[in-house]
Amino acid sequence: MMDGGNYSGMRPINLILLGPPGAGKGTQARILEEKFGLVQLSTGDLLRAAVAAGTEAGKAAKAVMEAGELVSDEIVLAILKDRMADDDVAKGVILDGFPRTQAQAQALDALMRESGQKIDSAVSLSVDDEAMVERVSGRFTCGNCGEGYHDSFKQTAKKGVCDKCGGTDMKRRADDNAETVRQRLDAYHAQTAPLISYYESRGCLSRINAMAAIDAVERDLEAIVERVSA
Ligand code: AP5
Repeated sequence: MMDGGNYSGMRPINLILLGPPGAGKGTQARILEEKFGLVQLSTGDLLRAAVAAGTEAGKAAKAVMEAGELVSDEIVLAILKDRMADDDVAKGVILDGFPRTQAQAQALDALMRESGQKIDSAVSLSVDDEAMVERVSGRFTCGNCGEGYHDSFKQTAKKGVCDKCGGTDMKRRADDNAETVRQRLDAYHAQTAPLISYYESRGCLSRINAMAAIDAVERDLEAIVERVSA
């Protein structure tokens, strides 16, 4: 089985993680990043960084994100294109939370074509909506290294202390409350779920049962990486 130790022989691959809030996109993207040296590219993280930095894009995105709606394609695509221009992206990317609309999927196709690359697999993480409210409401993250945890499903070994870096500044997101999560789920079903058939029609869709435990989902994703990079 491939792991971080023999990643160097693997060609760069590009994956999309498709799924509603709480499906485990961020959790699994971080695992894949560590294991295979791919780069996690989360438009949610990029937007939150823009909000924190007070950029024009961040100012425009803040209220939209707090309401659980989708930020405009124009802002998201500008932020994504900037990030895709960085050198490390050549290692291959895990797109976490992008694309989320048909327009974003088409813009990504164009970007891939221009750079002579392709999407190796779009992975749909299938989950039950009701369970997602619990997953998202219980989430917290280390403010120092970004490692994600959950009140019930992934606790720190020592209360309040990050297992990874020892940090003690744990954060909860402003949009991680039950009401906003329901709005985010609605946005997912209306605008993002149709992308499952978009990628199915292109022959690069994979499906995973993301209701399973974190390590079981990890094994399924690893099998996909091994298949597409073979
Ligand atoms: P974004 O940051 O992308 O949030 P999201 O899609 O709502 O996804 P989440 O981060 O909530 O969930 P996740 O799937 O990463 O789950 P996680 O791994 O953390 O977007 C936020 C906002 O930004 C959007 O609402 C929108 O406004 C804007 N935005 C972003 N991208 C955009 C775009 N492209 N276009 C327009 N607007 C955009 O897991 C959740 C919790 O569950 C964790 O605590 C974890 O430990 C736990 N967990 C994970 N997997 C499992 C498992 N298998 N079993 C049990 N627990 C698990």
